[in-house]
Amino acid sequence: MTAPIPFNRPCLTGNELLYVAECIRRGHISADGAFTKKCRGLLEEALGSESVLLVTSCTHALEMAALLANIGPGDEVILPSFTFVSTANAFVLRGAKPVFVDIRPDTLNLDETKIEAAITPKTRVIVPVHYAGVGCEMAPMLDIARRYGVLVIEDNAHGLFARYRNRPLGTFGCLATQSFHETKNFTCGEGGALVINDPQYVERAEMIREKGTDRSRFFRGQVDKYTWMDIGSSYALSDQLAAFLFAQLEKRSQVWENRKRVWQRYEEGLQLWAREHGVRTPVVPPHCEQAYHMFYLLLPSREARQGLIAHLKERQILSVFHYLPLHLSPVGRSFGGEPGQCPVTEDVSDRLLRLPFYNDLSEADQDRVIQGILQFRIGSFAPAAEPAPEASRKSARG
Ligand SMILES: Cc1ncc(COP(=O)(O)O)c(C=O)c1O
Repeated sequence: MTAPIPFNRPCLTGNELLYVAECIRRGHISADGAFTKKCRGLLEEALGSESVLLVTSCTHALEMAALLANIGPGDEVILPSFTFVSTANAFVLRGAKPVFVDIRPDTLNLDETKIEAAITPKTRVIVPVHYAGVGCEMAPMLDIARRYGVLVIEDNAHGLFARYRNRPLGTFGCLATQSFHETKNFTCGEGGALVINDPQYVERAEMIREKGTDRSRFFRGQVDKYTWMDIGSSYALSDQLAAFLFAQLEKRSQVWENRKRVWQRYEEGLQLWAREHGVRTPVVPPHCEQAYHMFYLLLPSREARQGLIAHLKERQILSVFHYLPLHLSPVGRSFGGEPGQCPVTEDVSDRLLRLPFYNDLSEADQDRVIQGILQFRIGSFAPAAEPAPEASRKSARG
């Protein structure tokens, strides 16, 4: 029997277990130990950012960003509907209204030409999501944000170390968020980072991350006791997880090369079939150096997409779809979302399929995926087969 090919698999790059053991031996497994410092140093240098705080998830980094931006009831936040729930939820938690703007049909990123029409006197923030680790059109977005006096907070869950016009993603907004969830290029299971590019946010971000206290200043010897200074929560990542993460980050070139190889093999192996079957592969503009986070196909119809999922499933290959448009979710509808509001999002959400993608996907397994797809004739499948429960369960992750 052929072994199943998962959609995602966590991969070790070499030193993970060694560093976790070292962390425990050092006797500091809570937050802000030696490995947290190493990760911070590496990320701050690679991004050239003022400060990078390791946190428990990208979701929490987004929540911190909303707190730092003093988002409250009556505020509006512009973001794509084609994204993970957390991008919107973090701001809704503070009482803001999400204003969903459609995506570009090519990169599937927030459509910068549609932002201005969505701005009102209540708009406080624009949240670009660099989908699949391909940069949004940051130059026009920053220009709009400057002209209207609104903040830019990047959700860069997919795009660590990718670049737009030779500048790293995550360095355009005053704040940016990263994910180290199992499905991301660099992982520690669950984890994230808040990237701070504007120095005015550093001190308060440290407090929000430490339950609203000035504990970080205390540990630096700047105060002789720490106390409750602000609202906050427990957002700091344990040093054991930072140890695991550091092993991945220090091998970032190797991870990047491996993922680039996987991405390019899909592109080369599927190009012709895609052209003949009206299927589109990812678009990466020449001024974007991508993160090679995922490889997706845009099938001609929802039925074809569901058919291909079922066809691959029969061959023990798990492919998944995402995102369900946020404006059509129960919460999105409670903010007035309705069908037709974001037509590109609605269309893409029906047709997009993500292929198995992880750092050590072997050539033999990838060939099985490619051959499986090449055998799929659009129009020759049983229409509208619902995806396997497993696939649906995995559908919503970034
Ligand atoms: C675009 C985007 N933002 C935020 C998140 C949330 O990341 P985390 O799981 O680290 O909270 C995800 C997760 O997949 C995502 O895809």
